[in-house]
Amino acid sequence: MNLILKKVGTSGPLPTISYDAYDGDRKIGEAQLRLKEGGRPSLPENMKSHVYYEVAKEYEGKGYGTQILGLIKEEARKEGMHELLLIAAEKNLASNAIIRKNGGEYLWDYVSPEGERDLKYKLSL
Ligand SMILES: CC(C)(COP(=O)(O)OP(=O)(O)OC[C@H]1O[C@@H](n2cnc3c(N)ncnc32)[C@H](O)[C@@H]1OP(=O)(O)O)[C@@H](O)C(=O)NCCC(=O)NCCS
Repeated sequence: MNLILKKVGTSGPLPTISYDAYDGDRKIGEAQLRLKEGGRPSLPENMKSHVYYEVAKEYEGKGYGTQILGLIKEEARKEGMHELLLIAAEKNLASNAIIRKNGGEYLWDYVSPEGERDLKYKLSL
């Protein structure tokens, strides 16, 4: 496995840098790095975050998600960032594992009016 991130563009006010993740010539997923915390408008300010990533269904469970976050850490360092703030839905066990394996420290959580719990993490770079 030789995963790389290819920058596909920068957009929006934060701004947000978008990447495609490739293993060789196969695109296996995508990621976004927000240089300032952002996220769904429905989230309170203390649940905004810097990172989003996803792995295509057929490539899940092979360690790609863990590697993508590792590569995003390198990109964030290159951008001069010193920490990443991340959130993961409590029920998203894989995403919580990815963040913890990359050194994420649990900060606090938030339960939406619909009863969905998100966990917030800090990851020092
Ligand atoms: C979450 C997501 C990125 C995981 O990607 P992935 O490539 O399958 O993750 P990995 O293979 O690196 O697995 C990470 C860890 O989660 C664990 N894991 C994977 N699926 C799991 C599941 N359904 N239940 C419990 N643990 C799971 C793995 O065992 C691994 O831990 P380990 O190395 O200690 O064994 C992928 O499922 C996805 O794109 N989901 C939709 C988008 C999303 O939720 N993005 C995250 C936003 S916060």
